Amino acid sequence: MYAEKVLSGMRPTGRLHLGHYHGVLKNWINLQHEYPCLFFVADWHALTTAYDEPGTIAASSWDMIIDWLAAGVDPSQATLFIQSRVPEHAELHLLLSMMTPLGWLERVPTYKDQQEKMEHKDLSTYGFLGYPLLQAADILIYRANRVPVGEDQVPHIEFTREMARRFNHMYGREPGFEDKARESVKKLGSKRAKQYEELRTRFQEKGDESAIEQAHELLDEAQNLSHGDRERLFGYLEGGGKMILVEPEALLTEASRMPGLDGQKMSKSYGNTISLREDAESVTEKIRTMQTDPQRVRRTDAGDPDKCPVWQFHVVYSNTEVKDWVQKGCRSASIGCIECKQPVIDAVLKEQEPMHERARAYEEDPQLVRNIVADGCERARKLAQETMRDVREAMGLDFS
Ligand code: TRP
Ligand code: SF4
Repeated sequence: MYAEKVLSGMRPTGRLHLGHYHGVLKNWINLQHEYPCLFFVADWHALTTAYDEPGTIAASSWDMIIDWLAAGVDPSQATLFIQSRVPEHAELHLLLSMMTPLGWLERVPTYKDQQEKMEHKDLSTYGFLGYPLLQAADILIYRANRVPVGEDQVPHIEFTREMARRFNHMYGREPGFEDKARESVKKLGSKRAKQYEELRTRFQEKGDESAIEQAHELLDEAQNLSHGDRERLFGYLEGGGKMILVEPEALLTEASRMPGLDGQKMSKSYGNTISLREDAESVTEKIRTMQTDPQRVRRTDAGDPDKCPVWQFHVVYSNTEVKDWVQKGCRSASIGCIECKQPVIDAVLKEQEPMHERARAYEEDPQLVRNIVADGCERARKLAQETMRDVREAMGLDFS
């Protein structure tokens, strides 16, 4: 009934690193060729935990968007926007909050997990409890049916589905209504089906009440119709029973296999990252000084790649030939660690080259980024406003 649509958001954490690229961004870039995509900066979500230090949100957002563009997210294919610039998200969040059972929110696993993780911060706030509901509003307002997220976000998508179901049940009757109604129409037989469709069109397009009366007569005459089909066809005539909000599905993003410089997962909090737009000199220096197999003290000691973070970089970046060379050379001490690191350095620099190139224009002229986002916000807002019209109407808030 509604077209395929992908939506995903990222909290503005500032400059992104290669872990983000290999985990999330490559996926976005593939998706943008397949579906209409909406990607946004979840700045309000950032505020749920950073409400006492909001100073960096704007700068982090611009940095992050430049990183998206640098990585190859294409603004001529995907819509890029900032959550807070589409205030309809907040309106839907509010309206949904009226019918959100507190228990549903308290049961979302990230609620307690994050509170425990960020013990230093008071997260017993209304906004933080509502985090998954805000996320649900982000998704539902675009009727997005596919949401690329990591594993940790799956409960939020499940929660979103429950909210959509609850809303449709309360205000829109059954999901799949239109398809079922079309099936019911067929059961009228071809002659009556045609008349029914004509009458329905006449009512829906011209508001002709007499068409409704005639259609009711027609349905009354159709003897072999089940009770369910009959009710559906009455509803369908007047356009009732719509699926107002769409249940989304998570498109699971595979966990990034990108290791950090120390062999742990690459993450800002571990201080083991290479940022997307890091300059070549710094990248080279970071990899040159990377920890290797601690047992390999002297050049003449044999090493074990399985105990070396550099090997994990080879797994991501090197072909079979190079990997064989590392395995043999390391275990027999026929290559040195500096030698071993060179292909990794070359591969990372090569990967970053087009990113630097794409970023350059945006760094030199920030107005370009502003324009892309202004354009994206406008497009997103149109879609959001369409949904909000239906939502307000369904909830009896149509004062026109
Ligand atoms: N909660 C997501 C995260 O922390 C970010 C997010 C906010 C999001 N709204 C969204 C992701 C809507 C997908 C869809 O990563
Ligand atoms: Fe690590 Fe390569 Fe040195 Fe072996 S040769 S310890 S894999 S850096």
